[in-house]
Amino acid sequence: CGIVGYVGPRPSQDILISGLARLEYRGYDSAGIAVIDESGALDSRKRAGKLAVLRDDLARTPLPAGTTGIGHTRWATHGGPTDVNAHPHIADDGRLAVIHNGIIENFAALKADLLSDGYEFKSETDTEVAAVLLGRAYHENGEDLQAAFRDTVGQLDGAFTLLAMHQDHPGLVVGARRNSPLVIGLGDGENFLGSDVAAFVEHTRNALAIGQDQIVAITPDAVSVTDFDGAPVEASPFEVTWDAAAAEKGGWSSFMAKEVSEEPEAVANTLRGRIQDGAVVIPELADLDDLFTGIDRIIIIACGTASYAGQVGAYALEQWTRLPVHVELAHEFRYRDPVIDERSLVVSISQSGETMDTLMAVKYAAERGARTLSICNTQGATIPRESDAVVYTHAGPEVAVASTKAFVAQITAIYLLALHIGRVRGVLSPVEAAEHVRELEAVPGKIKRILDTEQEHTTQLAHWMADTRSVLFLGRHVGFPIALEGALKLKEISYIHAEGFAAGELKHGPIALIEAGQPVFVLVPSPRESSLLHDKVVSNIQEIRARGARVIVIAEEGDAAVLPFADEVLRIPLAGPLFEPLLAVVPLHIFAMGLATAKGLDVDQPRNLAKSVTVE
Ligand code: G6P
Repeated sequence: CGIVGYVGPRPSQDILISGLARLEYRGYDSAGIAVIDESGALDSRKRAGKLAVLRDDLARTPLPAGTTGIGHTRWATHGGPTDVNAHPHIADDGRLAVIHNGIIENFAALKADLLSDGYEFKSETDTEVAAVLLGRAYHENGEDLQAAFRDTVGQLDGAFTLLAMHQDHPGLVVGARRNSPLVIGLGDGENFLGSDVAAFVEHTRNALAIGQDQIVAITPDAVSVTDFDGAPVEASPFEVTWDAAAAEKGGWSSFMAKEVSEEPEAVANTLRGRIQDGAVVIPELADLDDLFTGIDRIIIIACGTASYAGQVGAYALEQWTRLPVHVELAHEFRYRDPVIDERSLVVSISQSGETMDTLMAVKYAAERGARTLSICNTQGATIPRESDAVVYTHAGPEVAVASTKAFVAQITAIYLLALHIGRVRGVLSPVEAAEHVRELEAVPGKIKRILDTEQEHTTQLAHWMADTRSVLFLGRHVGFPIALEGALKLKEISYIHAEGFAAGELKHGPIALIEAGQPVFVLVPSPRESSLLHDKVVSNIQEIRARGARVIVIAEEGDAAVLPFADEVLRIPLAGPLFEPLLAVVPLHIFAMGLATAKGLDVDQPRNLAKSVTVE
């Protein structure tokens, strides 16, 4: 869910709505705001549906002007996406408003207790339980909102970001976080709270990161941060490195279209400042050689697209460091008593740095003594803060729910990391490393070429296939995770059944799915680099072709061997085998986007999904 809070001299309604618009990728099934108006009364409005529904409603009948406010855009967990279940939740006879992200695990017990005390509830949500609890605590604590807030969060189990305001205290918004994101934006005579900096970046780039289990109170002129017991703590200041325009659509039809077009820069920016005289130099890792020398294995954990970046990265990590590398979905990792100890390096990959499944896996690994390193695209996010080290991807803000430019940046970052570890451990010679660095440096230009030469053809193909009910993707070696990514992207935004397979696995089952006209994308490895692998994939193509499949091949420029068996050929520039995924994925992103667009779907905000999933 997306959360925003404001206190200052300006009318808060527009600030809240524009903040929510920037946070909408966090959830978009309902939205709401509350303000304390000039007469000192609390007003609120909330609506099921996308933010536009609320915005239109407020445009028709605005709330009375007020300069203290909170806003929320929801991804439903407890209770369906209805007006009633939307946030804010109101308590204390309409005088207190609460918004929440996360899940309060003990809400049923708390609710039973409140019900037996005679309190009533309007919604099915865990958030209303927190609101009613806070209302009770407010009176038990001498109408001191901050004391009541401390009392309340101390009773909650689970993960949450909570924001509250009370009409008796205009000019004050209180917030708390446990395993769920919240940052402070520092303005001039005004202050902000947000799930992430996007909430306030158009007003200020000065931010404060808040730690776990901390409480914040903002007024127009002051910010205080304490632990849950009220003891003051230092919040760490940071400056947002991108401006509001970077998170705007500009002239593009969608954020996804913009972000795919930014794939070359995402790679280039992730490399920038990390290569000196052909050698990888990662300033963030300068004094951390012991993270890499004292280990005997690497485990990569991530979810969704980030996990496929991890799968691609594992090939390079293993090859360049000669350490065993294992990739696992974060939400599976900690439930099987994995073999990890202080000789394990756990590398997490997360665009948002907030994915709860990944965060919990990182914490689990750290508790068992493992060293942890985060690959993350969001400054000041929770996962890098909980890790021993971080290598940031510099893809810039990614707004479309389905990840594209962050994916290529993630692979780039793991490759840099792999080269760094390979050098630190003495596995790679400077000459070998320099050769890989050259390949990496060539990637942005090659992606650009694909965008220039294949975009139109791929989009056209997607339009022709708008009625397709199922698409399969085949790849081998590093092409296998790319097949998985191609299928995921299609599922996410076009709602078409899609599956990725290892090409060699085809004959062990999936080939039964092939019937006349079944579209199959096949990622063909370079014939120059491995004729064995190439020829095996070409045989796989023949096997499916013989059964009537419609074959769309992604192959290197000049590879003529695929022509007799392909219905369509999408070309990628020549690259070493480990670098092909960074290229082959680009047409797949374009294809998914083209198909969803052809079906008239919203590519940026696909149904049921949220970009930053901060619940387990
Ligand atoms: C969600 C998104 C996916 C994303 C995954 C991991 O499920 O819908 O697109 O790949 O989270 O997100 P992360 O921020 O950890 O990379």
